[in-house]
Amino acid sequence: MSDLALDFCGVALEGPVLNASGTFDAIAARRAFGDALLERFPFHAFVTKTVTVEPRQGNPPPRLWETAGGMVNSIGLPNKGLDAFVAQDLPQLAELPVPLVVSVMGFDHSELARLVETVGARDEVALIELNVSCPNVETGVLVGADPGETDAAVRAVRDRTAKPLVVKLSPNSVDPADVARAAAAAGADAISLINTLKGMPLDPRTRRPWLGGRTGGLSGPAVRVVALEQVSAVAEAVDIPIVGMGGISSGSDALDFLSVGATVVAVGTESFRDPSVGRRIGSELSAFGGHQTIRKGQPISTSSRA
Ligand SMILES: Cc1cc2nc3c(=O)[nH]c(=O)nc-3n(C[C@H](O)[C@H](O)[C@H](O)COP(=O)(O)O)c2cc1C
Repeated sequence: MSDLALDFCGVALEGPVLNASGTFDAIAARRAFGDALLERFPFHAFVTKTVTVEPRQGNPPPRLWETAGGMVNSIGLPNKGLDAFVAQDLPQLAELPVPLVVSVMGFDHSELARLVETVGARDEVALIELNVSCPNVETGVLVGADPGETDAAVRAVRDRTAKPLVVKLSPNSVDPADVARAAAAAGADAISLINTLKGMPLDPRTRRPWLGGRTGGLSGPAVRVVALEQVSAVAEAVDIPIVGMGGISSGSDALDFLSVGATVVAVGTESFRDPSVGRRIGSELSAFGGHQTIRKGQPISTSSRA
């Protein structure tokens, strides 16, 4: 067994390095790399891109803007919809050598319930991640930015599955710790954060918004200190496990997140530069002595461990 192995919400993982939803397409990677991908899979669990009930085209182009230390995306959750995901993607994802986390987003409680019930009924699925970074269609309030909305969303689905529910918070809220408390009280098994920070790059020629969707989400190294602060605050606020992410590109970055209270970490934007980065981060964590040495809230020095 690896020195990084751990139990996450009752699911055995060989280590604490996941991919961040929407940043690694395992089906496309398998087409590109063949079975070598399965032999050297970069992550200890695989998180799907967010699935919605209906198919979505996503936002109009342009969808990406490179900025200092990161990028802004306005992808808009394009996906084939729940039925096609279950029929076409799930059988392929079940061949991955690691536990599967399916990320879902519903635009109202009945959609969310259908997603959780359908995905939760599948043996291939180990955990479900609720991406609550969407507006309540009636009130316009961003669900994951509001404790009351998050409480209601988690309660609407909690009884629909016995599978662990990971609630992914938006960083664009007044107090993520309050939202995390609400999610935990409503029955979440874990919290993941951060999603992207809202941003609006301008086209330098026109001084108008560059992105087809007008605004987008900032990710990459630029958000890391924001993520560390939010993970730390949430770790103080709740006793359930935390998936920490935001700008992780090395084992040292991952160790920062584990040191402030994350149980596992997820890697997003860095995978676009290096699709195998998850493996490197796992090796670097091992070199630091394995994540088991980390105690919540007790930062450790890497200099004596490297
Ligand atoms: C291109 C792109 C697509 C993303 N798609 C999703 C998604 O479908 N669902 C989701 O919950 N988060 C999505 N995210 C957010 C990431 O999962 C992650 O929370 C965020 O990028 C911060 O991590 P990073 O700085 O390591 O990229 C996306 C991010 C990027 C850059």
